[in-house]
Amino acid sequence: MGKILVIGSLNMDFVINTDKMPAPGETVLGNNFMMSPGGKGANQAYAIGKIGGDVSMIGAVGNDESGEILKNNLKSVNVNTNPIETIDNESTGCAFVTVDKSGENNIVVIQGTNKLVTIEMIDKNIELLRECDIVLMQLEIPVDTVKYVIKRAKEFGKTVILDPAPAQSEVLEEVFDKIDFAKPNETELSILTGMPTSTTEEIVLAARKLNQKGLKNVIVTLGKKGALLINEKECELFEVPDVKIVDTTAAGDSFLATFSISLAEGMSVHDSIRKANKVANFVCTRKGAQSSIPTREEINLL
Ligand code: RIB
Repeated sequence: MGKILVIGSLNMDFVINTDKMPAPGETVLGNNFMMSPGGKGANQAYAIGKIGGDVSMIGAVGNDESGEILKNNLKSVNVNTNPIETIDNESTGCAFVTVDKSGENNIVVIQGTNKLVTIEMIDKNIELLRECDIVLMQLEIPVDTVKYVIKRAKEFGKTVILDPAPAQSEVLEEVFDKIDFAKPNETELSILTGMPTSTTEEIVLAARKLNQKGLKNVIVTLGKKGALLINEKECELFEVPDVKIVDTTAAGDSFLATFSISLAEGMSVHDSIRKANKVANFVCTRKGAQSSIPTREEINLL
């Protein structure tokens, strides 16, 4: 089994369930509130660990209760958390997640210590980058660090997978040709390309624009419709069965975790997407981020 290195964010999620998302200027009543471990990077590392992958995480937390809880949760599923630094005088990242009755969410992230994941921190852990097979990243840490990792990872011949979220336009274009797989959803794809992504045709055109700029494989996650793999040779839709959606939080994270671990186990790209789809779909039937990740046994029954 290949080794996976996740470099990214850890957040404490403050989750509110409400019947209806507030419109701009509107106040609504929430149904309940919970705090639970999250952060795109930590969710991905947690899911890989829980499914049984060989995973290390580089990141940063504050010297506070949230940081402890987040690190312990990762340790509980055998993630190597040694490279996660604890930093004084800055709080652990947090995210304010609102989930409506249909399971859709809106998220605002306060980066906290995630913005202190620096190039120096990567250099300190360069052996981990050299030793791993797959590097998995998101954009809740500084973009300069992400670009640096992508360049170094390619020098070392690694498979680079990027979750371009929260999406930013143009900032990553200089490293597009060094990314093997990027997984935006439709909204993120639109931000990345400045193009509309309301229909399948528009999505394919936008993804092809990224292919032309050097990004080899774009996997667009489409919620209930599944995922589209788009590269210069193919455009294939991978559908998902209908399920009762409770909360879509971490669907994308569990998709990428399963995709990465499947590749690390030698599965084909197509089969890895099929498996990732199944797990992401299942995650939508449960509440929360890390709390919704299934075990390998549960996955085998899907
Ligand atoms: O992808 C879901 C995650 O996004 C949440 O856990 C939240 O922390 C934000 O990072």
